[in-house]
Amino acid sequence: MQPNMSPAKPRPADNNSHGLYGQDILSVKQFTPPVLDYIFSVSEEMRTLVERFGSADLLQGKIMTNLFYEPSTRTSSSFMAAMQRLGGQVIPINSVQYSSVSKGESLADTVRTLECYADVIVIRHYEAGAAAEAAHWASKPIINAGDGVGEHPTQALLDAYTIQRELGRIDDLTVGMLGDLRFGRTVHSLTRLLLNRNVTFRFISPRLLRMPEEIRDEVTEADGTFTEHEDLEEVIGEVDVLYVTRVQKERFTDLGDYEKVKGAYIISPETLTRARQEMVVMHPLPRVGEITYEVDNDPRAAYFRQMQNGLYIRMALLATVLGRA
Ligand code: NCD
Repeated sequence: MQPNMSPAKPRPADNNSHGLYGQDILSVKQFTPPVLDYIFSVSEEMRTLVERFGSADLLQGKIMTNLFYEPSTRTSSSFMAAMQRLGGQVIPINSVQYSSVSKGESLADTVRTLECYADVIVIRHYEAGAAAEAAHWASKPIINAGDGVGEHPTQALLDAYTIQRELGRIDDLTVGMLGDLRFGRTVHSLTRLLLNRNVTFRFISPRLLRMPEEIRDEVTEADGTFTEHEDLEEVIGEVDVLYVTRVQKERFTDLGDYEKVKGAYIISPETLTRARQEMVVMHPLPRVGEITYEVDNDPRAAYFRQMQNGLYIRMALLATVLGRA
């Protein structure tokens, strides 16, 4: 893997895309508060557009490649739906085993091939840093749809957008993150996105799955507050957001370790009797038992609305990166 060498793409004469036109989306660190507000407001417009008309021709003539080296349901299909609802077309490479990747083609050559045919490449990869490497080789924009245990910036954007819609703000909150904080890239990105917003973080996990030191340090450096817990009961009554994650079985080198922690937390209606009335339960999904089906009927369960929001966020991102927002 190449080191992270992703100079910004040459900037086309920008319109009002907050500097995102023609750029890669690799990390949430690119989303300062004004850029985030802008993406939220475009997402609201996309919501209205979909509700009223279903689709538009904003990205007519544009092509997106979905290049997925790891499994995905929501991220890949919402990116495809986003492109198609905006009138664009998609090259779906959702099973790289059927592409020349299985013949041993390098990431560099794969992205340089696909950018001959597409205007933007959405990539999911099992290695942290892979999206940055792809961006180094490509002259067209690369969007990181999850790079190993690294980041998942578009998920964090839709997560923050969901919090904004559900609670009316993303500042001054107490956010509990629960489960696999070590390997879960969604919580890495969301934590970074919520820095400098007066958020108090409660990191709840088995010891083996603690939030990585690098991210804990980033919270401290940003003068943020976090505490760590193994027992959810210590904080369930105070959180505004309970962000639940799946234990990422595929990231364990020792499956014995996975067996020790896999069922560590299960959120049930009983758990939520001790939670505030004004709070939300979120999950990037897929869930594999962390939240029981009975919780789905609780108005605080926001995970289905959260995944719906992913469509609008990804429509907004594609339109912005392609200069048509
Ligand atoms: C997440 C991911 O792929 O990181 N899923 C998603 O994109 N919605 C979380 C997970 O796989 O557990």
